[in-house]
Amino acid sequence: MKLNIRLWFLVALCLIGTVKNSAQVAKGGKKISTDLFGLFFEDINFAADGGLYAELVQNRSFEYNPGEKREWHPFSYWEFILPGHSLGHISVETNSPIHPNNPHYVTIDAEYIGNYPKVKAESGVGLKNYGFDGMVIRQDEKYNLSMFVKQITDAPMDFIISLQTPKGEVLAQTKITTSAKSWQKYTAGLTATAGNDSASLVILAKSSGKFAIDMISLFPEKTFKSRPNGLRADLAQKLADMHPRFMRFPGGCLVHGDGVGNMYRWKNTIGPVEERKGQRNIWGYHQSVGLGYFEYFQFCEDIGAKPVPVVPAAVSCQNSGGTHVIGGMGQKALCMDNMDDYIQEVLDLIEWANGPVTSTWGAIRAASGHSEPFNLEYLGIGNEDKMTPEYEERFRMIVNAVQKKHPEIKIVGNSGPSHGGTDFDKGWQISNEMQVSVVDEHYYVQPGWLLSNQNRYDQYNREGAKVYLGEYASWGNKLKNAIAEAAYMTGLERNGDVVQMASYAPLLAKKGFTQWTTDMIFFDNVNILLTPNYYVQKMFMTNQGDYYFDEVITKEENNNLLAASCIQKSMTGDVILKLVNAGTDDKVMKVDLSRFKDLHKNAQIEVLSGKASDENTFDNLQKVAPTISIYTVKNKFEYQAPAMSLTVIRIKTK
Ligand code: AHR
Repeated sequence: MKLNIRLWFLVALCLIGTVKNSAQVAKGGKKISTDLFGLFFEDINFAADGGLYAELVQNRSFEYNPGEKREWHPFSYWEFILPGHSLGHISVETNSPIHPNNPHYVTIDAEYIGNYPKVKAESGVGLKNYGFDGMVIRQDEKYNLSMFVKQITDAPMDFIISLQTPKGEVLAQTKITTSAKSWQKYTAGLTATAGNDSASLVILAKSSGKFAIDMISLFPEKTFKSRPNGLRADLAQKLADMHPRFMRFPGGCLVHGDGVGNMYRWKNTIGPVEERKGQRNIWGYHQSVGLGYFEYFQFCEDIGAKPVPVVPAAVSCQNSGGTHVIGGMGQKALCMDNMDDYIQEVLDLIEWANGPVTSTWGAIRAASGHSEPFNLEYLGIGNEDKMTPEYEERFRMIVNAVQKKHPEIKIVGNSGPSHGGTDFDKGWQISNEMQVSVVDEHYYVQPGWLLSNQNRYDQYNREGAKVYLGEYASWGNKLKNAIAEAAYMTGLERNGDVVQMASYAPLLAKKGFTQWTTDMIFFDNVNILLTPNYYVQKMFMTNQGDYYFDEVITKEENNNLLAASCIQKSMTGDVILKLVNAGTDDKVMKVDLSRFKDLHKNAQIEVLSGKASDENTFDNLQKVAPTISIYTVKNKFEYQAPAMSLTVIRIKTK
């Protein structure tokens, strides 16, 4: 009886909560997706290694090779050093690695540790790594070193490990002594007494002897959320600040890869980092997969974004063989003989993400440090694939298997690399026939296209699969590009009943290492350049709602340089107006809020505006950035939208 009373009390509380929530939403609103705006991360433009992944050592496991870049080899970015007139030999070997997935390692014979009195530097025999164009070391901060060493001679080996400026000044130093003739992991912390933006890591054997060394890693202790094997805190924070509803990963073309042998296989990217299988990515450089599936899921959880992994549809990218041939030119399909295993791999991913610790793959996830499920809801199958019969057959097989075993998973199908055409139509047709939940569309266009096509989704069929605009951008990072995107995004909100998700692409680009010129965030080792496109995305992402209202904002008719939307967030009752002017003159828009009850007069207004050609550069990082202030609203008011601007007005209810 007591239990029943408690139960009724709980039910009553829930009902009151529901009534309260719905009471805060005005009448006449259209329900829209609560997952509308999110992120798309791909390891393109050195976005992962040397970028978001905080590892400071480049080529830490000696796996770079000429198949990745012609000039690369296992010893790239390392130097063999013998300061103090020491003597020794080095070789790269593969006979008995730490793990077969990580075949190369270095063997050093430290024959003689010099003691030349005129040399100031520490003497010894060893290695130096310059990181990704120098390591950024900050004064008083701690850096965690780890390395695998195997003594080949009997006696323990002494090492001095230091962080040094380009002139050889020591910023931090520590000692390690080995203790085994088998591969062992040794760790040490280094706290810097001074900082430098171009530092290097120096590992010196101080006793003569022979040893093998591999997987030399250095992380700042201050990673995002202090995660081990974590992410660069400042960059990750910029993504967290956007409050994305979801994050799609790991690509892009990187997913389906350059030939079947180059597809991104999620199982190669989990577990101890020294056992992961790095490979060249389709963008022509090495991916260590230190930032692998566990880290992607963990990051999503850390920033409150739903994970949206994408697995290959068992075919490679249609552009395979573009620069380096692995599987021959064009799209290649996995053999039918391999399909059962491949489908199992996809099903295992769902178990790994969501299964209990008692399941095989749930236990593997738990062993990585996450016993709770990751709550995977969406799974992408394929990336803008060419709609060949080989693709279709495999896509249908994978979808069938997932639907049968996991009807709870929302499958994201795909529709080729363009906003129309044969692949687009065929992709939609197949996806609808298979009754997948969402279809991924991709298009990179001129800003004018976005302005003229703001109504694209007004006519979309509301009965079939929903849309995930998984990759889009206008070509450019000037304010005019960002404002055209903002105008288009108001159309996505208006159609939020059929557009389930949208993400700008690509996300990150390292200065001087880009394969794609238009990106959302540029960075070097020290600075982060937020483009106007970033600010537009952030203004939309941090101002999402779940009800859309027509007829709140009136603007000049038949002028596609103007766009606007009005949404409400039922949890808080906040009313959010977005007003876009992509023209060169200020324009008045009329706002009628009379349908909303109990609004506060003082609203928050955020405005991004400037000249069409304005952009941020590494010399002027803040030229274009939004301003935030208080704005007084009335039931009915006129707003003068500045030329080339996005305005977001957020009004709280009492
Ligand atoms: O975002 C860059 C690339 O554009 C993606 O890898 C691919 O899906 C698209 O062609």
